[in-house]
Amino acid sequence: MTDSKSLAQAAVTALETADPVAKVAAVLDFAAAWQTGRITLVGAGNPPARPARPARPELLLPRHMPKRRRAKNVAGRIALLHALAHIELNAVDLACDIIARFTDDDLPREFFDDWVAVAADEARHFSLLSTRLEIFGAAYGDFPAHDGLWGAATATAHDLLARLAMVPLVLEARGLDVTPVMIKNLRTAEDHDSAEILETIYRDEITHVATGTRWFQFVCRARGCDPVPTYHEQVRRYFRGALKPPFNEDARDRAGLTPEFYVPLAVK
Ligand SMILES: [Fe+2]
Ligand SMILES: [Fe+2]
Repeated sequence: MTDSKSLAQAAVTALETADPVAKVAAVLDFAAAWQTGRITLVGAGNPPARPARPARPELLLPRHMPKRRRAKNVAGRIALLHALAHIELNAVDLACDIIARFTDDDLPREFFDDWVAVAADEARHFSLLSTRLEIFGAAYGDFPAHDGLWGAATATAHDLLARLAMVPLVLEARGLDVTPVMIKNLRTAEDHDSAEILETIYRDEITHVATGTRWFQFVCRARGCDPVPTYHEQVRRYFRGALKPPFNEDARDRAGLTPEFYVPLAVK
């Protein structure tokens, strides 16, 4: 049996779904359909400028967000898990957007295989974190959240090369730098269940950065441009400021994102 929707249309439906639980279900559903051959057509989509989101959390400007989330006490851990759940929900939408937005770019089927796998991972990451919040008696939506995360998507909506440079190869790569410290702090606080969730996320995120690296290089080859200087040019154009060390060189290396890409862009 073949689903009547194309992959791109299914990704748009997920983007247009506001309720996080329903959004996650929609993503896992189209991912399974693609992976089992129930959806075979990539098709074309018209993704919204901004994904649909629930009424809560309230979205605040980055400068109005509370500064630090400490793993030491329960309130701090809830705030941390909430902030991470929000990042993962954005990641779900970012993966759906990349699937639906660049269908005219003459990409092989493997491109869609890879980003469908990323979308499903992000959906699982959100579920793990929101379930963990519930165990603490909290829920996604209880606290305000950062409204700056979709900015990189909007700024790079016109160009896959820019999108890949900014989203997997700046933002997700940054996640690799900061997650081990969070895991360590959660272990110190003896919150091993939260630490395990972050370890799962960390392992998956290395593959997401690797996916980003692979497709960035693919697009560079297709356009006849050199990946390292092209990355520098794209990041300087779309990222405000310099990249922040310390970098997790080991994880970045495993993802194929070698130091010549990011070290020249670092804060001196
Ligand atoms: Fe994730
Ligand atoms: Fe990711």
